Amino acid sequence: AWGGLIDLPLASTADTLLEALDAVDGEDQVAWRDGQRRVARLVQADTPPAAPLSFSADACYLVTGGFGGLGLVVARWLAEHGARHIALLGRRPDLGAPGVAEIEALGAKVHTVQADVADEAAMARAFEQLKRDAPPLRGVMHAAAALSAAPLLQLDDAMVRQMLAPKLAGTLVLK
Ligand SMILES: NC(=O)c1ccc[n+]([C@@H]2O[C@H](COP(=O)([O-])OP(=O)(O)OC[C@H]3O[C@@H](n4cnc5c(N)ncnc54)[C@H](OP(=O)(O)O)[C@@H]3O)[C@@H](O)[C@H]2O)c1
Repeated sequence: AWGGLIDLPLASTADTLLEALDAVDGEDQVAWRDGQRRVARLVQADTPPAAPLSFSADACYLVTGGFGGLGLVVARWLAEHGARHIALLGRRPDLGAPGVAEIEALGAKVHTVQADVADEAAMARAFEQLKRDAPPLRGVMHAAAALSAAPLLQLDDAMVRQMLAPKLAGTLVLK
């Protein structure tokens, strides 16, 4: 049978525990905080509306995996919100990628960069290229991914390494 959960601060006295046990309101999960008995309830958060999002026209925003499905969507969204320099990065940058012209039609310049995001030396060259060709980098959207539809049990070490390289090694290079 299910009893209940009583979450007490470390410095509680036995009286607090007895008070918690004495409750007859049927609550089966209670926590004591600052002398108050609290129960589990979802309430609407009282958060102020977020400031409208915009991007600086005199900065550059890098999208790794920028020629992929998500990368192009993110790049278009950046352009719609005011970004005027967007760098798309992939191992095989495709100048004719569908979507690039659409982004440029929104008024943004697309800078294409060829690099493996997990390769530190290649990324150093990529950042040098951007420093030369584009305004200062102000943000990075990391959407590079090597996806595989293989079931977990069929993955071997090489496949796992290949999948994790852009996500893990790439994140470490970018940070
Ligand atoms: N699509 C969705 O609806 C969706 C939804 C939620 C989350 N996601 C996540 O978003 C990420 C991207 O998904 P996607 O659908 O856009 O995949 P995708 O179409 O396969 O695009 C991934 C892009 O990453 C690039 N890439 C892969 N390895 C790279 C590396 N080492 N260095 C640089 N670029 C690399 C690929 O280009 P190259 O091979 O030329 O390098 C490719 O253009 C994934 O993590 C996915 O799980 C996607």
